[in-house]
Amino acid sequence: MIKICGTGSALPAHTVTNDDLSKIMDTSDEWISSRTGIRARHLAVEETTTGMSVKAAEQALEEAGVKAEELDLIIAATLSPDHILPTLACEVQAAIGATHAVAFDLHAACSGFLFSMNTAAAYMQSGVYKNALIIGAETLSKMMDWNDRGTCVLFGDGAGAAVLRELPDDGTNGGLKAFVQYSDGARGGVLACGNRPVCHPFASHEPENQYVTMDGQAVYKFAVSTVPKVVTEAVEKAGLTLADIDHFVLHQANQRIIESVAKRLKQPMEKFPMNLQDCGNISAASVPILLDSLNKNDMIKANERIVLAGFGAGLTWGAAVIQW
Ligand code: ACO
Repeated sequence: MIKICGTGSALPAHTVTNDDLSKIMDTSDEWISSRTGIRARHLAVEETTTGMSVKAAEQALEEAGVKAEELDLIIAATLSPDHILPTLACEVQAAIGATHAVAFDLHAACSGFLFSMNTAAAYMQSGVYKNALIIGAETLSKMMDWNDRGTCVLFGDGAGAAVLRELPDDGTNGGLKAFVQYSDGARGGVLACGNRPVCHPFASHEPENQYVTMDGQAVYKFAVSTVPKVVTEAVEKAGLTLADIDHFVLHQANQRIIESVAKRLKQPMEKFPMNLQDCGNISAASVPILLDSLNKNDMIKANERIVLAGFGAGLTWGAAVIQW
């Protein structure tokens, strides 16, 4: 069975409340919190994507009782690494001394942690690797246009990690039970961010907007229509019903999206933990940070069933069912 054996997370020390934002731009706590549920977010000042990832990774390894040298795979999900080269996963590998691991980044925006976990699981199911470190980490504050109040108020920084192991079956039928994942590049324009333009002695293109742009209402409609379906599909694939699920750990984009998903699935809000109030949307890091906080606060019991679900730019979306 493929099991999450340890989790970890790290957030920047500096907290910025909605009231703090209202002092530097034309916004208000009422506007932000009533539309999104977000009241504060952590923004990196001294912290880096790699530094937070290393902290989260070390906690996850310690809880799992796995030494860095025992890792054979590291996948880091990020859209905001510190450097284009080397990759975040390789920087973490070097920092923790995971000398036997192959390390690479996976970019699937807000679905990144989930897709990384599923990718690691596929390697494990085919017998290639046994011990994997999965990271979701972002410093989104540097990707925002701080003159665009429609986007910059939504996002935060942080990192989360999990150690995934292939273990002998212990008779509990636990671990990863099923996953499903999808993409629709044709709708990608609703959540976008440009890159450096081609510029060399033979060609020079106009620079693209290098900040995140979003059609908020289109993203909202995408999320509330696809997430209930993909969650239901993953649960059915696991041979379970929605009533069998104890916790739905969804990407933390917006409280109204989560409430709408809960309503469509006819499941009580108590099963949908949230940290977006204090963290905002941390893209690939939101699911592992929330999972770590549930784990550290003993809010998940052995054998409980959890749905992890991600959705975001690409467009990408997916869900996995695990038994703790
Ligand atoms: N403070 C005050 N006013 C604002 C702010 C702000 N921070 N941002 C926008 N406004 C104004 C707009 O300028 C507009 O004013 P106008 O009517 O005078 O032109 C008005 O508020 C309404 O703007 P909309 O963009 O239409 O606001 P909407 O009601 O759609 O809410 C929101 C925006 C919260 C982003 C909503 O569309 C939403 O929840 N979308 C989901 C998208 C999401 O969660 N994305 C996260 C990233 S994607 C992901 O992680 C999957």
